[in-house]
Amino acid sequence: MRKNIVAGNWKMNKTLQEGVELAKGVEAALNERTPNCDVIIGTPFIHLATIAATVDTKKLGVSAENCADKVSGAYTGEVSAAMVASTGAEYVILGHSERRAYYGETAEILKEKVLLALANNLKVIFCIGEVLEEREAGKEFDVVKAQIEESLFNLSAEDWSKIILAYEPVWAIGTGKTATAEQAQEMHAFIRKTVAEKYGEEVAEATSILYGGSCKPSNAKELFANKDVDGGLIGGASLDVEQFMGIVDAF
Ligand code: PGA
Repeated sequence: MRKNIVAGNWKMNKTLQEGVELAKGVEAALNERTPNCDVIIGTPFIHLATIAATVDTKKLGVSAENCADKVSGAYTGEVSAAMVASTGAEYVILGHSERRAYYGETAEILKEKVLLALANNLKVIFCIGEVLEEREAGKEFDVVKAQIEESLFNLSAEDWSKIILAYEPVWAIGTGKTATAEQAQEMHAFIRKTVAEKYGEEVAEATSILYGGSCKPSNAKELFANKDVDGGLIGGASLDVEQFMGIVDAF
């Protein structure tokens, strides 16, 4: 059976001290309940080592938000997958629409990043999703399928077990405009079918597909109630313990 997952994506928020405090707050809140999902926090690179050493990573998974597309060497300012893994983080978010849009990350670059992440035993939370113009033009399914095919369909079925997909319609990210439960389910079912066509039903059924984009305590339950929505990738609401837990509790 696939896992239900609620993963935070802090983006470029929180100083180290604030981040450690937030992570401790999330851990304390988790200790007060038995969540029906895995819980992960995605933090800036500089937070990873401290947070991974502070929290019990078996209870609260730690993820990077990116990694380099090169192994090592003269790439000033970059952080490799091996470095991420050496902090104790277990996951890396790749292909976020902000990375694609603002930092020119192409399908080819992301393919390299995924391979390096897997080679370093990181699990990948791979983001896909269309922009508004693409949805308005009725191209959302083609766009999402291409994003999966171009960066992930080179992987083996075994590698695929380390892939978590996150469908994030770009028009819903940070806008307060959530996809309806029907829109999310429709796309998630399509994504699962796309995976099944390539890797078979068993692999597709075992793949967790998260929804992201203005997911909040008030709409999480309705989104997660759908059969192909296996959790959420949470931006804004992951910066506050109570809000984040409100989403965890939706399961
Ligand atoms: P949001 O961000 O929850 O703030 O819309 C989601 C994301 O970008 O992962």
